[in-house]
Amino acid sequence: MSTRSAVVTGASSGIGAATARKLAEMGYHVYVGARRLDRLHRLADEIGGTAVELDVTSAESVQSFADAIDGVDVLVNNAGGAKGLAAVADTDVDDWRWMWETNVLGTLRVTKTLLPELIASGDGLIVTVTSIAALTPYDYGAGYTSAKHAQGVLHRTLRGELLGKPVRLTEIAPGAVETEFSLVRFDGDAERAAKVYAGIDPLVAEDIADVIGFVASRPKHVNLDQIVVKPRDQADAGRFARRG
Ligand SMILES: NC(=O)c1ccc[n+]([C@@H]2O[C@H](COP(=O)([O-])OP(=O)(O)OC[C@H]3O[C@@H](n4cnc5c(N)ncnc54)[C@H](OP(=O)(O)O)[C@@H]3O)[C@@H](O)[C@H]2O)c1
Repeated sequence: MSTRSAVVTGASSGIGAATARKLAEMGYHVYVGARRLDRLHRLADEIGGTAVELDVTSAESVQSFADAIDGVDVLVNNAGGAKGLAAVADTDVDDWRWMWETNVLGTLRVTKTLLPELIASGDGLIVTVTSIAALTPYDYGAGYTSAKHAQGVLHRTLRGELLGKPVRLTEIAPGAVETEFSLVRFDGDAERAAKVYAGIDPLVAEDIADVIGFVASRPKHVNLDQIVVKPRDQADAGRFARRG
């Protein structure tokens, strides 16, 4: 049997990097995409994969990424993130634009472009990393929660539209995972980012990668539709058991 291929977007950090390592360990040839190419090259060398520059907000970049790929069986739509935490009344429209472009339209561009190859695989899998923010809105988070809701709806719609085609779809909705996510959200403010995880045992990127590995290892008639993963210390977006 020929080696199966996986594409992981946003693989230069956090959940994406851990997922690329996990899938490589499982025998996949992994194409890793993101904007920070130096990090991608280091990861690709480590896992025997292929680094390809990718900016999911650019149609040209997505097309040249797809041109560099020779077949894909598993697509992990992971590139994304949040910018800012503000009341709707005070929010910055550019932050919303960034979040919608990256999480929603980025997922749309990559998925649409790679869909013919995923179908041609005969056993394709699309995993989309949304968030618990895709399930419930929270105060001061409307830019992110609306983008994640839209990304989730896009993914769930495909589940119906691809019925009868050999492609499975799984949405992974994590709670708090300690990655560079909060550093990006708070524009590099490390002190503010650290407070998000203070006094709890957050998930780590490998926890989500393990779940994606489990999904990818199911037999082809089994579709895990949606998986919500939270730390034990978290009940919902705003409710944590914090110590100290
Ligand atoms: N951490 C959490 O608590 C949490 C919870 C729920 C859901 N999530 C979701 O999990 C996913 C991964 O986030 P993470 O926690 O691993 O955060 P992270 O460490 O900040 O990683 C985000 C990744 O997305 C990539 N990315 C951002 N903009 C991109 C673009 N325009 N084109 C291509 N890649 C882009 C980044 O790479 P470059 O900057 O190099 O391009 C980076 O590799 C995101 O969709 C996030 O919304 C995270």
